[in-house]
Amino acid sequence: MTVEDIRARLEQIVDPSLKKTLKETEGIKHIGIDDETKTLVLIVAMGTTGGDEERTLRREIAKAVKIDLKFSGLKLELEEFRVNTSIAKLPINFVGIISGKGGVGKSSVAANLAYRLKQKGKKVALIDADIYGSSIPSIMETGPVTLYLNDDKKIIPYSKDGIQIISTEFFTEGNKPVIWRGALLNQMMNHFFYDVNWDRNLEYVIIDFPPGTGDVALDVKNIIPQAKMILVTTPHPSASHVAIKAGLASQQFNHEIIGVVENMSYYINPSTQKKEFIFGEGGGQMVTAALDTELLAQIPIGQPKYRLGLYEIDEPIGKIYSDLADYVILSFEKE
Ligand SMILES: Nc1ncnc2c1ncn2[C@@H]1O[C@H](COP(=O)(O)OP(=O)(O)OP(=O)(O)O)[C@@H](O)[C@H]1O
Ligand SMILES: [Mg+2]
Repeated sequence: MTVEDIRARLEQIVDPSLKKTLKETEGIKHIGIDDETKTLVLIVAMGTTGGDEERTLRREIAKAVKIDLKFSGLKLELEEFRVNTSIAKLPINFVGIISGKGGVGKSSVAANLAYRLKQKGKKVALIDADIYGSSIPSIMETGPVTLYLNDDKKIIPYSKDGIQIISTEFFTEGNKPVIWRGALLNQMMNHFFYDVNWDRNLEYVIIDFPPGTGDVALDVKNIIPQAKMILVTTPHPSASHVAIKAGLASQQFNHEIIGVVENMSYYINPSTQKKEFIFGEGGGQMVTAALDTELLAQIPIGQPKYRLGLYEIDEPIGKIYSDLADYVILSFEKE
């Protein structure tokens, strides 16, 4: 008899506290066989331990193990389900903003995408996971932020423009740079995902990742395997080269790349109204060709009219971000 046979039999048993089978609750956490003593070792999670429900479940499991499965002994540990509150487990669309090089506009894309999704009526959160150079707070104009805990000792995210925001900067004193090693990204993200009192009905979580290639992709894989990526580059070949590396690393870990955003693509000379390609040309196309993905947007050089880093819909760049947001929505809806 294999472990799978044993599991199949045990999964038919109903957890009386949840009125669901152990298959439905995914309650069987461990199956071990001690051949010498013909003892089955089980760890099972249930809704509520203690009381009649636990006694009933113990009896049902013992019956199945001894009568149907014919083991002479049973070591059974019953535990209560750990309330899994990580937002990574919720049906939320996660969009990671990544780049090869720094300074290409990753944070601008992350903030403006979040802003446009919100303006389209979506429930949005923005996570600033750039442990090296956090800039979401300044783009979103949060000012100095003090975070508070709710009654469950969970961090209440800061809200601005209807967007829930958490930034590494909120956890550092006096904006001193944090010298965190890349490996700590994992730990910090777990903290953000488990210990923050996010709106459980979020639809989109936009994550501004640190620039980089392999190590970051690996961390992201561990944290949110289902995240889809947008890769930001400038049109200059030196930036697109590194962007391709970052993209390949991401693809290697099976992260879907929604597409590429080429930022600072051109400048419209106000006196001639002609495009000037200050930072070169063709970087975006180079990256999309190398990664076999789409060029989602080409964003020109230009400062926002009203805000520090956010473009409104009546500005040309605001309109480009709006189209980008539509594309992102579509890329999740087509599934
Ligand atoms: N399209 C644009 N036009 C003009 N300025 C821009 C544009 N995009 C970004 N910038 C400016 O360039 C700088 C870098 O942008 P941003 O902080 O978004 O890049 P980043 O890739 O997140 O950088 P970092 O690696 O430091 O996190 C900022 O000062 C930003 O205001
Ligand atoms: Mg940034």
